Amino acid sequence: MPECRAYYSMRGNVQAARLSGSTSVASTSDLGIVREKIAAARSLAVLTGAGISADSGVPTFRGTDGLWRNFRAEDLATPEAFERDPRLVWEWYNWRRELIATKRPNPAHAAVVELERRCSEFWLITQNVDGLHRAAGSEKLSEIHGNIWKVRCTACGVVEDNHDVPIPILPSCRHCQGLLRPHIVWFGESLFASDLSRCAAALQSCDVLLVIGTSGVVYPAAGFASVAKEAGAFVAEINPDATPHSETVDVSLRGRAKEVVPLLL
Ligand code: APR
Repeated sequence: MPECRAYYSMRGNVQAARLSGSTSVASTSDLGIVREKIAAARSLAVLTGAGISADSGVPTFRGTDGLWRNFRAEDLATPEAFERDPRLVWEWYNWRRELIATKRPNPAHAAVVELERRCSEFWLITQNVDGLHRAAGSEKLSEIHGNIWKVRCTACGVVEDNHDVPIPILPSCRHCQGLLRPHIVWFGESLFASDLSRCAAALQSCDVLLVIGTSGVVYPAAGFASVAKEAGAFVAEINPDATPHSETVDVSLRGRAKEVVPLLL
């Protein structure tokens, strides 16, 4: 998939994504067009970001409530930050675990499950690590940035489920006592090859791609809409604010995920 960089990175100035965002409700005619495209689709792909979980009360990364102790995600979600201060990074993830543990899937997550049920060829690509898509019932999905409820041993590499809230800091591997890290793809790390190839296949073959609640500034996911569009898909974005992709997608539905996505069924 040459169009998609496997490296997890940021593009340009984040502020560029916060264009003069409108919060106007999606127009009925645009909604109708997207609904028709979905109904006729043989193959459907969905890409989600933090915005879909915002409606469950999970703060987005680049929204006003995305900071923790004045750190940005880019300051903490890196191998360098973990090497420098694993305690600080684990405290941040523990805070996020405590927060996410209290959240439940919202009607947008449920609508994505229904889309999966209706379309025989379906793939969900999520950048979210909160596990809310799985909790809602999604099964055909790639969690391309990992999952906050999994840990990986930095010494022996074993990956395990871990739902501890709070998680003991610093957590250690029950097999070899090595330091555990979140099983999350950090800035500067590559996505898992199996996820990339599965996502590439979905993007190349889908008739329709829905892009829900992502600022579109973090690669490789930021390139997925263009990959699908170049392969001939109809691409619709659902976001209350404009993004760098709003001008190039086929339809940009301005509104909150929990309000707009159920209307697409
Ligand atoms: N419904 C839909 N979209 C929403 C909503 C909502 N209720 N509320 C906010 N949004 C939109 C914002 O307008 C913004 O475009 O969700 C997007 C959230 O953007 P980010 O915080 O940048 O999150 P995301 O795009 O998922 O970030 C990508 O960056 O920090 C890393 O690993 C992290 O997976 C994350 C990646």
